[in-house]
Amino acid sequence: MGILLVDGGRTLQGQVEVQGAKNSVLPILAATILACGQCVIKHCPRLRDVDASIQILRHLGCSAQWESGALVVDTAQMNCCSIPDELMREMRSSVIFLGAVLARCGQAELSYPGGCELGPRPIDLHLTALRALGADIEDRGGTLRCQAEKLCGTEIVLSLPSVGATENAILAACGAEGTTVICNAAREPEIMDLQEFLVKCGARIHGAGSSTVTVEGGRPLHGCVHRCIADRIAAATLLSAVAAAGGEAVLTGVDYRQLSTVTAALSEAGCRIRSQNSTISIARRDRLHCIRPVRTAPYPGFPTDAQAVLMAALLRSAGATVFVENIFENRYRHVDELARMGADIRVEGRVAVVCGVESLHGATLRSTDLRGGAALCVAALAAQGQSEIGELHHIDRGYEDIARDLRALGASVRRVESEEPHGEENKPEAQAKRKIRLSV
Ligand code: UD1
Repeated sequence: MGILLVDGGRTLQGQVEVQGAKNSVLPILAATILACGQCVIKHCPRLRDVDASIQILRHLGCSAQWESGALVVDTAQMNCCSIPDELMREMRSSVIFLGAVLARCGQAELSYPGGCELGPRPIDLHLTALRALGADIEDRGGTLRCQAEKLCGTEIVLSLPSVGATENAILAACGAEGTTVICNAAREPEIMDLQEFLVKCGARIHGAGSSTVTVEGGRPLHGCVHRCIADRIAAATLLSAVAAAGGEAVLTGVDYRQLSTVTAALSEAGCRIRSQNSTISIARRDRLHCIRPVRTAPYPGFPTDAQAVLMAALLRSAGATVFVENIFENRYRHVDELARMGADIRVEGRVAVVCGVESLHGATLRSTDLRGGAALCVAALAAQGQSEIGELHHIDRGYEDIARDLRALGASVRRVESEEPHGEENKPEAQAKRKIRLSV
């Protein structure tokens, strides 16, 4: 595992095409199981979480390989319906395979997905939805055994609009006889992308993007060619980087409507944002100022995944901004790391108050989770001097190559690979070894 070396304090300028969306492609890869044939997934980002999905698909007997930049998955030969614990633990969204495997095989066996850095992430809504469709689910010491001789369409009312539970319900409902109506569904754009993929495969689904999704199940599905939407959170990260460091940039291949709460916050802080067709341009000249409270909420509210990067962008703003994290309990783990750079942030439960400081300085930092790690990169660009960011396996889960994208904007960011295992890249001995290597 390596570290990122970021030389901060320079303004940015450049253009980047935004990578494909992690949160789209993961459920789509699970959905390929329903297609019983070849699916070509274009604009698929190369990420650790995608690698984990590929491992799961191969374990199930499917083939998955990269061909000319696309991921080609063939699920015709699938011959297994259980996923071992070590693969389940690789990523939280492995649980999305449950609905797909159950719909295809009539049974599934898997363990709970890996514990999470963001606090407890229950799957009760997923299980309630699958049981409503007729699955018999037994929980034996953390292993879920699911059986369904026949899944039957029904009405599923989610008590809160969970993204993953909505996706699992859609996937299982595709394999159910009759019509399923999912009420209080999550409305994230990635669910629309999943619907689009499944419709190309021959499914009858409508309503994704609204609170009511209807699935007419029981149809045979086939493979298709699909291009994933752009990653709105990767886009929010790059916009925040420019907001933090100053300068101007153009992001291409992105749907600005999916980023309206993020761009509204950045505009309020003093950035100039222009959106047109599939591009967003941002310019930041003067010091940013504080903004009204940022409250995370299900889409179309402010995304919890963009909370950390926006916070990083506002560290040097004039005045104080309040953040309220309403989705996950433990989503301020980046705050202690930001404080090492001189940030002034106070956290009390779900609320964080960022008091803008005049300047930040480079520091030795550890990524605490995926978006927290991205926030450290954003803050490091606005800090004087060099920062070292370790524990990159978190960032690698969701960013194809964050150093490449920031360099395209003129930032000085280098990744230095090291032999040290996770968590030891920042130790003094490792730093000393690296200094010798870098100076050679
Ligand atoms: C997805 C995204 C993640 C994002 C999150 C919220 C993917 C792969 N991941 O995660 O990046 O941060 O949406 O936008 O798309 N909950 C329950 N019971 C359940 C399921 C969820 O109580 O069965 C709660 C969760 O604890 C959380 C809230 O519902 O407080 C939202 O979670 P959910 O929308 O399910 O998030 P994920 O699908 O896990």
